[in-house]
Amino acid sequence: MTKYNSLKRIDAHLSSLGYCSRSEAKRFLTHFDVRVDGVRVFDGSKKVRHGSLSVDGEALDPEQLFILMHKPSGVICSHDDAGVLIYSLLPLRYQRRNPKIATIGRLDADTTGVILLTDNGTLNHQLSSPKSDISKVYEVTLVQALRGDEAEIFASGELVLRGESKALLPANMQVLCTTQVRLEIDEGRYHQVKRMFGAVGNRVVALHRVRFGEYDVENLALGEYRVLDFPV
Ligand code: URA
Repeated sequence: MTKYNSLKRIDAHLSSLGYCSRSEAKRFLTHFDVRVDGVRVFDGSKKVRHGSLSVDGEALDPEQLFILMHKPSGVICSHDDAGVLIYSLLPLRYQRRNPKIATIGRLDADTTGVILLTDNGTLNHQLSSPKSDISKVYEVTLVQALRGDEAEIFASGELVLRGESKALLPANMQVLCTTQVRLEIDEGRYHQVKRMFGAVGNRVVALHRVRFGEYDVENLALGEYRVLDFPV
C-alpha cells in the first residue's frame, strides 16, 4: 500500500483531514498556527506536500488511517442507522474526514471486540472481501448447554446455513465450558456465528471477537482505539 505525501492546496489538505471545511479554511488559517516547513502561512491556495504541513506545532494527521478499536456493545457499524454509531467514538476531526472512515466489515450492535477501520477503500476491500480468508476468532456464550456434536459439524465443511446454497468453510471450535466456546472462522458471512449456532439448535447470548487476523484488543479498554501503522 502506498504511503501518501500528496501535493495539494493547503485548504484541501485541511478539509479532507477534517480540520475545517473548505469554506472555513480562511478563518482556520488566521486562528491556528499553520506552517509549511516551519513557516507560518495564511493563504490556503498554495499547493504543498502533506508532510510539510503542521498545525499548532503538530504534524498533520496521517493521510490514510488504519485504526484498531475495542468495540463496546450497543454501538452500530454503520454511517446512517439510528442509534449510537461507532464513528462517534472517534475524535470529531476523524469523523469529518473525506473520504470517510469506515469499518472493515461489520459486527452486530451487541457484539464486542476487535473491529478495524480505515478510510482507504482498497485496504477495506482487501481485508473484508469474502475471499480474503482472514481468520477471525470469537468467544461465544450460548443460551443452552452444548449437545456435543457442534465441533464436528462446524469442522465438516458441509454445513449449509438457512437461505444459502454454499457450505461454510470448515471452522474450529474449542469448548470452554458447557455454554461457552471459542470459534475460529475464515470467512465472514452475514451474522455467521449466530446463524451457525442457530443451525445446531442453540442461540448466542453474547459474542466477543477476540482476534481478526493478527489484531487483538488485549491492551485496549472497551470503546478505546489505537491508530496503527498503515499496512505495507
Ligand atoms: N457473527 C455474528 O453472528 N455476528 C457478529 O457480529 C459477527 C459474526
